[in-house]
Amino acid sequence: MGVEGLRFVITGAATGIGESTARVAAAKGASVMLADITDEVGEGVAASIRASGGKAAYAHCDVTSPSDVEALMRAGAEELGGIDVLHNNAGIHETGIADPSMCDLENMTVETFRKVLEVNAVGPWLCSKYALPYLKESDLPSIINAASVGSVSAYPLCIAYGTSKGGIRLQTQNLAVDLAKHGIRVNCYGPTAIATSMVTEFVKQADDPVAFEKSMTGKGLIPRLGLPEEVAELVCFLASPEAGFINGTYIPIDGGQLAWHGHIDELDL
Ligand SMILES: NC(=O)c1ccc[n+]([C@@H]2O[C@H](COP(=O)([O-])OP(=O)(O)OC[C@H]3O[C@@H](n4cnc5c(N)ncnc54)[C@H](O)[C@@H]3O)[C@@H](O)[C@H]2O)c1
Repeated sequence: MGVEGLRFVITGAATGIGESTARVAAAKGASVMLADITDEVGEGVAASIRASGGKAAYAHCDVTSPSDVEALMRAGAEELGGIDVLHNNAGIHETGIADPSMCDLENMTVETFRKVLEVNAVGPWLCSKYALPYLKESDLPSIINAASVGSVSAYPLCIAYGTSKGGIRLQTQNLAVDLAKHGIRVNCYGPTAIATSMVTEFVKQADDPVAFEKSMTGKGLIPRLGLPEEVAELVCFLASPEAGFINGTYIPIDGGQLAWHGHIDELDL
């Protein structure tokens, strides 16, 4: 039970939540194919998993490139002997590729808007498309997409990201319908701010980083940044046989942020 023996392909696995998922899944006995565009870092993570006794390999893959994605799935299936789990994790935020002052409607370039949609929404679709022949051969196939609280609620400077993550939530439901006939479950999850470079680099740019981080976590019933390992555990659960009746859904992992309307100062925490 759990993910022991399952074969994972994880995109964006060189850092952050993807890296954690690779490490946690491998520690639980899964074999993992890591993919990213930062090859040296990704190779290093795979090597360190192998050094700890885990089964891991790395392949370069830009999820926006059909030829890269097709080659990744082929390599993953060859390396691992098949694919059971596709974790569509690679993602970007507009504030990570453009100056925040250029991320409102008036100033954002068409290229920035398109790039975010291309990586966050087209990329997972491409990966699902090219993983499908291998997933069809699996006894426990599933696709797990990285959505976000930005899939279901808005926040400042997030119009491209929110559009892409709202899209991936609906892509998840549509794929679950399409792939039900193959017994492939498709789910997504929605983290709030998690302590990865996507968030910490943005926080660092603020005039008062401590106050800014507090404002980010200030609505959560658990008022702190989430940990990448906490998201990795959810991904492993969704991939496992124990989650065999969970399909086509969005699971929040947000410290209770979206559970209520209010501010943390109103609570006696
Ligand atoms: N960190 C958060 O607060 C948070 C919250 C909600 C959702 N998410 C989602 O979780 C996922 C992982 O985020 P993270 O916080 O670990 O970010 P991260 O920036 O630490 O990691 C993202 C990884 O994706 C890779 N990547 C970027 N573009 C790529 C491409 N075209 N092809 C392949 N790989 C590419 C990067 O090189 C990086 O290794 C993303 O989809 C993100 O939107 C993160």
